[in-house]
Amino acid sequence: MLAQLDALSDEARAAIGAAADEAVLRDLEVRYLGKKGAVTELLKGMKDVAPADRPRVGAKVNDVRALVESAIAARRDGLEAERIRALCADPHFDATLPVALPNVGALHPLTLVTAHIEEVFRAMGFMLLDYPEVESEFHNFDALNIPATHPARDMQDTFWLDTPGQLLRTHTSTGQVRTMRTFAPPLRAIFPGRVFRYESVDASHEHTFHQVEGLMVDRHVSVANLIYSMKTLLSEIFERDVTVRLRPGYFPFVEPGFELDIQCQVCGGTPGGQGCSVCKHSGWVELLPCGLVHPNVLRHGGLDPAEWQGWAFGLGLSRLVMMKYQIEDIRHLLGGDLRFVQQFRRG
Ligand code: FA5
Repeated sequence: MLAQLDALSDEARAAIGAAADEAVLRDLEVRYLGKKGAVTELLKGMKDVAPADRPRVGAKVNDVRALVESAIAARRDGLEAERIRALCADPHFDATLPVALPNVGALHPLTLVTAHIEEVFRAMGFMLLDYPEVESEFHNFDALNIPATHPARDMQDTFWLDTPGQLLRTHTSTGQVRTMRTFAPPLRAIFPGRVFRYESVDASHEHTFHQVEGLMVDRHVSVANLIYSMKTLLSEIFERDVTVRLRPGYFPFVEPGFELDIQCQVCGGTPGGQGCSVCKHSGWVELLPCGLVHPNVLRHGGLDPAEWQGWAFGLGLSRLVMMKYQIEDIRHLLGGDLRFVQQFRRG
């Protein structure tokens, strides 16, 4: 019996050592260690061994099993090493290429569209800036020509912090004067980010949403420059023509000021149609207020309005994302439901 075990061990290890690939090795693993494998059968046969011989034979069977297992593990490592050596010897193999990871996640549509906007504006020579979400009353209001008594403060219901004079920014326009005070003109910049308002939430209004501010300051800027940039932005993002309308709009920090609305992409915005809750049945969605920077704002930024002019826009990014992907309720964006984000999986 013991000699038979030695013979089996030698035979198994020789076959394993000669296994040419993983498939052969797996077959041998089944043949020796599988449920009906040779070593397993020997273990089952222990009941027929004379009781006096059982300890010795049992120990030997266990040794054989351990030897076969370690021979398989060693051959498996050897095959893997051979595979890697062969790959490295291949002149076409590039070990620096990124590994194709399993597709486990997706970028949020807000991230996708922000990245696209950044790309479009970088190509037009704009800097990309980032400003705090907790802001001073000065940057959110006073610097933007909205003093404490100004009724325009009521247009944006504000989350005030316990620290006096501090708030959660209600718009990305807070970055306008910060930018003018930090960078010498001429300058072009965009600053995307999260903003917060004490809003009653519905299909097109959130208390937490995203905007992208754009600012250009130069010696001669015009409404024509502004409209050109807005049109470039929209045609790049939608990759087709979309119908927009421009109308006068009031913001204390621009003069003149405009509202650029987009035809609702959720319901199609057809005149006389049913409409939808996103456009409140009007067919239009407020998307891109803009205008020429007010002289008082330039002054707060340390610039002389006789020498410098500027334009600015405050894109409603959350609404742009809704329009691009025809999302019928803004609450999906920050709702935290993974099924929503997974729809944006690529590949
Ligand atoms: C502003 O926030 C100005 N700071 C924009 C601006 C910048 C004007 C520069 C002129 C020059 P408004 O409050 O309209 O403006 O908001 C801008 C955009 O944010 C809106 O057109 C809309 O698309 C989006 N928006 C406003 N409130 C909400 C909300 N509660 N939920 C989602 N999107 C909103």
